[in-house]
Amino acid sequence: MSMDVRNLANRPVIIGGGIAGLMTALHMAPEQVLLLSRSPLGADASSAWAQGGLAASLGDDDKPALHLADTLAAGDGLCDAEAARRIVYAAPAAIEDLSRLGVRFDRTPEGALRLGLEAAHGRRRIVHAGGDGSGREIMRALVAAVRSTPSIVVVEGIEARRLVVEDGRIAGVLASCSTGPVFVATGRVVLATGGIGGLFHDTTNPLGSCGQGLALAARAGAIFADLEFIQFHPTALDGPCRPMPLISEAVRGEGATIVDETGRRFLDGVPGAELAPRDIVARAVWRHLADGHRVFLDAREKPGAMFARQFPTIASACGKAGIDAARDLIPIRPAQHYHMGGVAVDLAGRTSIPGLWACGEVASTGLHGANRLASNSLTEAIVCARWVAESVAASPEHRGKPAMASDLPAPDPGPVRPLLSHALGVTRDGKGLKQAARTLLALSQRHETASDPAAVGLMITVAALLRRESRGAHFRTDFPHDVAMARRSQMTLDAAIAAALEFESSPMLESVA
Ligand code: SIN
Repeated sequence: MSMDVRNLANRPVIIGGGIAGLMTALHMAPEQVLLLSRSPLGADASSAWAQGGLAASLGDDDKPALHLADTLAAGDGLCDAEAARRIVYAAPAAIEDLSRLGVRFDRTPEGALRLGLEAAHGRRRIVHAGGDGSGREIMRALVAAVRSTPSIVVVEGIEARRLVVEDGRIAGVLASCSTGPVFVATGRVVLATGGIGGLFHDTTNPLGSCGQGLALAARAGAIFADLEFIQFHPTALDGPCRPMPLISEAVRGEGATIVDETGRRFLDGVPGAELAPRDIVARAVWRHLADGHRVFLDAREKPGAMFARQFPTIASACGKAGIDAARDLIPIRPAQHYHMGGVAVDLAGRTSIPGLWACGEVASTGLHGANRLASNSLTEAIVCARWVAESVAASPEHRGKPAMASDLPAPDPGPVRPLLSHALGVTRDGKGLKQAARTLLALSQRHETASDPAAVGLMITVAALLRRESRGAHFRTDFPHDVAMARRSQMTLDAAIAAALEFESSPMLESVA
């Protein structure tokens, strides 16, 4: 870090240098903002890894109402229908925003946007850039735009450790950088910190994405929504590499099939087969593996010889594992991919704490429900960043309060990873969740490096325990059916601790939860 951020007090602070954070900063111009990023921009954000692109109803055969219907169907009764409506209707304009910022989307020889198909979409409506390199290309353009916007001060190599709350509203950010702890006084903070993949062994996310934004919001007392809904991608490349390379759903959109070691397409009888909603495909693959089979993606016929041209990133990842994707079967298994739950926000990104907004994967707008429709999340981040920026700009300036900067250690998700991987996988059960909750409660209260990741894990685990049904990506083997009334869930850290203590002290509760 080359500047003293204390001199930059009282301007809005955006925490996170992925697509949500960069777009929010750009939309706030010309208001001066401070953007804090743990790594050099573009280096470590899961946004840059996105292969799927952005879903938007742009085709002649498509319209926002059809995109909305697919979103609600995938969300399995749990979407906030109004939030979903507003976001998908704004999606085409978001693609235009990105084009104006210099994103080079894939186009047909005639110059029209090339539209791809992904699971559970009834139309071709996925806009890509660079084939399977959409996130990389969007980040390239946004980083360049941010670097040339004088109102955005980017501070790299700094990590937020605590949000300071005074009189019930945000008063500043306590952060850590190479020269030690710093306190930035501000009354307006936007969390854009991404997801939780680093809390799992098998993930397609960067391992550094381990729920830091959720921990910041939790320790500040924020309300969360739908935390139990974690999306597993059915086709991560099976092998020793961590994080696991993603084999995009777009490969199945181009005709690849899922087979076992006998060559059987075991999803054949499932409505939608390989292009059924992601939770259904992930569970089918998971069960088949659990039954002792090996599972593969077969792209030999389609996209076949076109594979490397259409999917260069995936072809290269397969090549590193000694697999020629156009000629060999590709071994796959499900891996944690996306968190539908997050800090509860309205469509302006406002959280339950005055002065705190959230945008992107860390937030829960209600768009995704119990199961995110593929490529809806980049769209959500781009659409909502504008609304968040407008809301921050319109909010009266509350000056932060000076506070002492104290040193807090970097979070270590290591002890939490095996617990969440075991208890919060593709399928869950009450016994495993309760065991995990017990250990996570103890870890979260120890003031050690694992305590923040454990606090996040505890909230997710308790939310999963309290949802005694199976819906979307949350599948309880002890409650395999859904209940008639779908309800979004809410959680706070205090509520999670209280519930975990109650489970500890009351064995009767254990038998029903
Ligand atoms: C994929 O390309 O399969 C992932 C897209 C997404 O997660 O939205």
